[in-house]
Amino acid sequence: MKTILFAGILLLIGLVACQTKPGISPEFYHKFQKEGDAITSQVQGVLLSNVAGAIQKGGTEHAVEFCNVKATSLVDSLSQAFSCNISRVSDKNRNPENALNKTEAELWKLFAKNTQADTLLEINNKITYYKRINTAMPACLKCHGDPANDINGATLEKIQTLYPQDLATGYKLNDFRGLWKVVFTD
Ligand code: HEC
Repeated sequence: MKTILFAGILLLIGLVACQTKPGISPEFYHKFQKEGDAITSQVQGVLLSNVAGAIQKGGTEHAVEFCNVKATSLVDSLSQAFSCNISRVSDKNRNPENALNKTEAELWKLFAKNTQADTLLEINNKITYYKRINTAMPACLKCHGDPANDINGATLEKIQTLYPQDLATGYKLNDFRGLWKVVFTD
């Protein structure tokens, strides 16, 4: 599996070769992979506890609004704290800003084929870290599951109002949902 992904990464680096310096050394790879993993784990933790708090306070419907307004600003301020640019992307994105770019669409296929947790790429001379996001908790399905069975009516209505082009429903537990993306800025 590792070999396949490695071959895929080489292919990807090849694809963007005109903008990248070839070859990331193993030590360099390891350093940034560790950093990317630590940052995204922290951000995920903060996001999860905030969403859980919002659900407790006003139900799932209220939490949708929280995700709409607060998730981005929370992630932005954490990006500043870590001197990098943190975001999430998906092939079935809810927020139109979280769509995959061309390189990510190729990367997505690799992640979809195996259980690889993360990878590091050099894109436009910037080190970029990606990490898998699965619908690992039943709570995810309250906003990303089957609209007929998992998402309650008021929540669905709120989602459709805030995100008229929403693609992010229909997931089951432990499905591949998205990728954390960390662009290191210095
Ligand atoms: C209360 C509803 C709610 C819950 C629960 C929820 N999400 Fe979301 N999720 C949202 C909303 C709303 C957005 C769009 C946020 C934005 O505007 O950036 C979103 C966006 C995302 C994105 C970014 C890609 C996209 O579609 O725009 C990922 C990845 C994601 N959610 C994964 C998860 C996972 C994994 C869980 C469970 C741990 C989860 N979500 C739980 C409402 C929810």
